[in-house]
Amino acid sequence: MSTYVRYRPDLEQPFPDEEELTRQVVAAMQHANEQVAAKHRHGLRDAHAKSHGILAGELRVHPGLPEHLGQGLFAEARSYPVIVRFSTAPGDLRSDQVPVQRGFAIKVLGVPGARAIDDGFSTQDFLLVNHPTLPFGTIAAYADLQKILEKQPGQSDSQLQLAGLAARTAARVLHRAGRPIPPSVETLAAANNHILGETFHSMAALRYGDYVAKISAAPLSPNVRALTGTPVEKKAGESALRDLVVGFFADNDAEYELRAQLCTDLDTMPVEDASVRWPDDLSPHQVVATLHLPAQDAYSDARRRYADDVLSFNPWHALQAHRPLGSIMRSRRRAYAQSSGFRHGYNGIEQHEPATIAELPA
Ligand code: HEM
Repeated sequence: MSTYVRYRPDLEQPFPDEEELTRQVVAAMQHANEQVAAKHRHGLRDAHAKSHGILAGELRVHPGLPEHLGQGLFAEARSYPVIVRFSTAPGDLRSDQVPVQRGFAIKVLGVPGARAIDDGFSTQDFLLVNHPTLPFGTIAAYADLQKILEKQPGQSDSQLQLAGLAARTAARVLHRAGRPIPPSVETLAAANNHILGETFHSMAALRYGDYVAKISAAPLSPNVRALTGTPVEKKAGESALRDLVVGFFADNDAEYELRAQLCTDLDTMPVEDASVRWPDDLSPHQVVATLHLPAQDAYSDARRRYADDVLSFNPWHALQAHRPLGSIMRSRRRAYAQSSGFRHGYNGIEQHEPATIAELPA
């Protein structure tokens, strides 16, 4: 029987120079963002700029959850409307043939309860990526990553594809030799598989009511499970992922399970370092809800404009019960506000947080 670590504010231990490192990261991101906006004559997200599908769906919290799982948003067995945005990690529009990390952002609407920050909203966002850890998992390490990312706006898609191939080969060799994979290699070494078959992770921890957890979403219905590990065809072109998502949802529903991995030991499952994978054998990912995505037009022009230009997904759009935890999460509080503010200002579009699903265009 596991003992779940109880949430308390002093689980977070800020770095002494955290403010300054965060300032550097945000300033570097903004510089890259301005270059990208000038290139496209349009403001994009500082990260996860390219969307592949925007879906309306429903989050169904499971009935009868045990006390340790029935926390925060998951305390009551009820359904919430959600907006999901599939994306790719860079802050520029790259070919879908470049194998980089993919995103799955879920905005749960109409969630009652005290807020993590005083934003007056009623949304709970979960921002997930198809990798269990953030290889640069503290703000100090992330500031180093920024130096790699800063070079990317000047690199072509084929240079990035080659860098990915070299990194995957290096990762395989190191893995076979039983050697640790350096964070820089891990970041570049994503495989290019069908986005709908992937499993997505919060990478970093968040408060889970009385406890602490990482969140993940995994394919549940057989039609998306069958896509796991299916490579994206090379000849499918620059927008292969959008075409796959649109083609799938033209006549298919899909289901994903939302899971919580609770912290049972602060040494092996640290809160301050998101590069450490919490061992599944010490604490499994336990299912708390089903995400139902019905068949629909996943990429109408109106939807793309709304999701890319109006909406902002942000880990700090959160209940107090799901407060983001650790230095990476704290740095995101400033980074997302900056990126979203710049994007909306550049495009002359007002920031708006939806209250109902009716606001998502068909
Ligand atoms: C725990 C690791 C992280 C995960 C899982 C994650 C995930 C995501 C996802 C899925 C999106 C796309 C949201 C959408 O569809 O609109 C996103 C956007 C973004 N991410 Fe992260 N991210 C992480 C860490 C970071 C860090 C450390 C920073 C910077 C300090 C950062 C900066 C951004 C920015 C600026 C955006 C665009 C925000 C906007 O303009 O609306 N992320 N992230």
